[in-house]
Amino acid sequence: MNQISFYLLQNPMAKISNHSSFHSPFQPTIILLALVILISHTIRRSHSANLLNILDFGAIRGYDSSQAIHRAWAVACKSEESTIVYIPKGRFLVQPIEFHGGGCHNEDISFHIDGALIGPPDYRILGNVESWLSFVEVNGVSLTGGVLYANGEALWSCKFSTTHCPVGARTLSFRDSNNIRIRGLMSRNSQLFHIVINGCKNVLVEEVNVMAASNSPNTDGIHVETSTHVTIIDSTIQTGDDCISIGPGSYNIWIQRIRCGPGHGISIGSLAHNMNEPGVGNVTVSKAIFYGTQNGLRIKSWARPSTGFVYGVQFLGATMHNVQNPILIDQHYCPNNINCPGQESGIKISNIIYKDIVGTSATPIAIKFDCSSKNPCNGIRLEDVRLTYQNEEAKSSCEYAKGKTLGLVQPEGCF
Ligand SMILES: *[C@@H]1O[C@H](CO)[C@@H](O)[C@H](O)[C@H]1NC(C)=O
Repeated sequence: MNQISFYLLQNPMAKISNHSSFHSPFQPTIILLALVILISHTIRRSHSANLLNILDFGAIRGYDSSQAIHRAWAVACKSEESTIVYIPKGRFLVQPIEFHGGGCHNEDISFHIDGALIGPPDYRILGNVESWLSFVEVNGVSLTGGVLYANGEALWSCKFSTTHCPVGARTLSFRDSNNIRIRGLMSRNSQLFHIVINGCKNVLVEEVNVMAASNSPNTDGIHVETSTHVTIIDSTIQTGDDCISIGPGSYNIWIQRIRCGPGHGISIGSLAHNMNEPGVGNVTVSKAIFYGTQNGLRIKSWARPSTGFVYGVQFLGATMHNVQNPILIDQHYCPNNINCPGQESGIKISNIIYKDIVGTSATPIAIKFDCSSKNPCNGIRLEDVRLTYQNEEAKSSCEYAKGKTLGLVQPEGCF
């Protein structure tokens, strides 16, 4: 209902004076009426957003609603007002969708999701697309609530039993986009990475929940790459690969209060996949808790030449519960020893702080710095670290690592 009809409904007298206005346009009541409409319209514009319910665009619970969602997006894009695309309770089947920001005039589009988006049950449909739900070149998009259920387990089974499976799709990706916010979203059983931030500026991810089987292949929780000012907070990630991974070209990354595990921990890298690679700088990981993960706080690079680097990382206030490698720098990543000429990494790692790291290691070596002989790690600082293995002090191991310890550090540093 538009403003005028709403007003008329509430005020039957208004209708009469509106009609009579044809004959006497200068009546004071008409001017008053016009003023009221104008004011209420202005208030409405400034205080509430357009609401686009996908049911009004043809979405039907239990059926393929991709077109409806895409049509709602297209309308939101054309509008210049704040717009909410509303996905109500229920399960909506969704094919791969690309939300492209090209030609979009709207810098404030929110998806409010009360329901669940369900991926195609046949894994081959997503198997060869890059992402199931992808946002490309958008500005000012937010996603709130909802469940994304990609049905990835069918592809994992294929990968467990044969080698002839498609690569798989990431569940949700943002590429070349700015001012993005993802809040309260759940992602279940992605085929590959769950959430990918690539080529973005100003991203806030909060209160998300990622879940996939602990043996599911390449199901990283949140992957960030070539992006700046990315904040990931208050999230729980249980998966088969890294909870959070940070690729080349990432700067000013803030990660706080993440619960991780099962999974492979929080990782900077893999780096040095390519010869020409931008670096990673100014990353803070604060108050992470790890539960039975393969790694805790890891920096990982291929044993290959590269222009890349890691500079200025702070790992603060982490708790480890039975973690295999609580603190790890691994510069000799080379699966099957293939394609690692020289077997040393070109990545230069410096100014890395570990402070207030406590808990238990599942293996005797709790701190391992396995750096490159060509580019030794330097400026590593261990401060107030206490990690035990089976109720005893754990061990540390250093190769080509320079640094210092401050406060009480157990196991002792090996610099
Ligand atoms: C480091 O990143 C944080 C955000 O994570 C930012 O607030 C801070 O200004 C950055 N520092 C520098 C020196 O760029």
